[in-house]
Amino acid sequence: MSSTYEMVSRRPRITGVSRSVPVLPAAFLALALTACSAGVNGTPGGSGVHDPYFPKAGNGGYDVTHYDLKLAYAPGDHSTGHLTGTATLTARATQDLTAFDLDLKGLDVEDVTVEGKRARWNRSGQELTIRPHDDLSDAETFRVTVRYSGTPQTLTDADGSHEGWLPTADGALALGEPIGSMTWFPGNNHPSDKATYDIAVTVPKGLEAVSNGELTNESTTGGRTTGRTTFTWHTAEPMATYLATIAVGQYTITRYTTGKNHLPVYVAVDPTEAKASRKVLAKLPEIMEWEEYNFGPYPFSSTGAIVDRGEDAEYALETQNRPVFPGAPDTATLVHELAHQWYGDSVTPKTWRDMWLNEGFATYAEWLWDEDHGGDTAQETFDALYKGDYYDDSAANKAIWAFPPARPSSAAHISDSPVYDRGAMVLHKIRETVGDDTFYDIIQGWAATHRHGNADTEDFTAYVEKKAPDKDFAGIWKDWLYGDGKPDHP
Ligand code: TRP
Ligand code: ZN
Repeated sequence: MSSTYEMVSRRPRITGVSRSVPVLPAAFLALALTACSAGVNGTPGGSGVHDPYFPKAGNGGYDVTHYDLKLAYAPGDHSTGHLTGTATLTARATQDLTAFDLDLKGLDVEDVTVEGKRARWNRSGQELTIRPHDDLSDAETFRVTVRYSGTPQTLTDADGSHEGWLPTADGALALGEPIGSMTWFPGNNHPSDKATYDIAVTVPKGLEAVSNGELTNESTTGGRTTGRTTFTWHTAEPMATYLATIAVGQYTITRYTTGKNHLPVYVAVDPTEAKASRKVLAKLPEIMEWEEYNFGPYPFSSTGAIVDRGEDAEYALETQNRPVFPGAPDTATLVHELAHQWYGDSVTPKTWRDMWLNEGFATYAEWLWDEDHGGDTAQETFDALYKGDYYDDSAANKAIWAFPPARPSSAAHISDSPVYDRGAMVLHKIRETVGDDTFYDIIQGWAATHRHGNADTEDFTAYVEKKAPDKDFAGIWKDWLYGDGKPDHP
């Protein structure tokens, strides 16, 4: 039994920290009232999309199709690192709008334009409420530009872990799951609204700026000491805000292509981690090939990795195209984060309640990798978890049954082991019911059907039932997916 895991959660738990709930100030209400009483068409878009775990995340009334971010970062420390940004969003109104919100936490807004005209704006907590000069009509495509600057914040999540903007020894790292992207750009910060991106980052000459997608340009201006380099990255496939990243600092860059389609690979490694990461990163092509064989065609136009120092972040994250690792990853973690490119990044949850569709699949990918590479079979891993001897710590073995995977008990628990391990157990129960042929059909078909889209748990159970109409899944859904406590298992 390979119990190489040290933690119950992918993220270390730090208890006793919680976020305070901001209160709507009078200014916001006055703005909303003015808009209504003026007798104009439309209403404000709203400050959230009713996520069951993050009610303020995202905004109503529009869909973003593209983010164009022009950023400049001068590294410092937590209080002096300085970001300057111009964010131009292309969006489509989904109702008549007198006003709409973007999510932005911290930073100073300098000005806002909508369709090239100065707009009025107001801030309250993470809501940047924008009132365009001219009302917007349902189905209208519009552009909004926000100019902003300041020292970006690091957020502390309900489980005590850190995300958002993380200053590092030689630069900074942006991690956005679940809500941290709003610390470095304004947007519709919810997984249900995916968009394409152009991200240009200007940094002092000598540093690298790595982001999602493909590097389309790199240009340096100025002299030896005053020089600055701009790295321009293009993300052609839809991406959720939580998967956007930038990594600024000193990196050793390795570029090559892999597979029969010559997929570009871009790997950035902090020089202090180069030696420790060499062997595992050399497995990336083999892992990609194995995952394509098992999950179907890779959904994006480039791949790679970003390896920062161990102390730079508390956990790995499946940032699109290019997952981030705090220190050299082990093979299981590389398999996990790359599996997320199919399950999470391409097929993205509709809300944060559907997290197990990300983590259950990525964890099951680790089990399958072991099974195919001379380690424990998935059945053995399942049995060890069920028997309670998977983890060295008995509290960790018990924690798997704390809540059902499809119903995390609160925002503080969306990255706990019921979502990961018990989520993977749900997939194993399905495999047990349908056999290997249908099971691989299901996981590939699921990735193909919702490629570049969003899906929720009910979409998944309906899909499984459609693929195996002669089987009965009611017990699996009731006991393993939605049921409290440890299910019976014959
Ligand atoms: N998704 C990451 C992984 O499994 C872990 C993680 C980081 C996470 N931040 C999170 C999970 C926030 C849930 C919520 O690789
Ligand atoms: Zn994961």
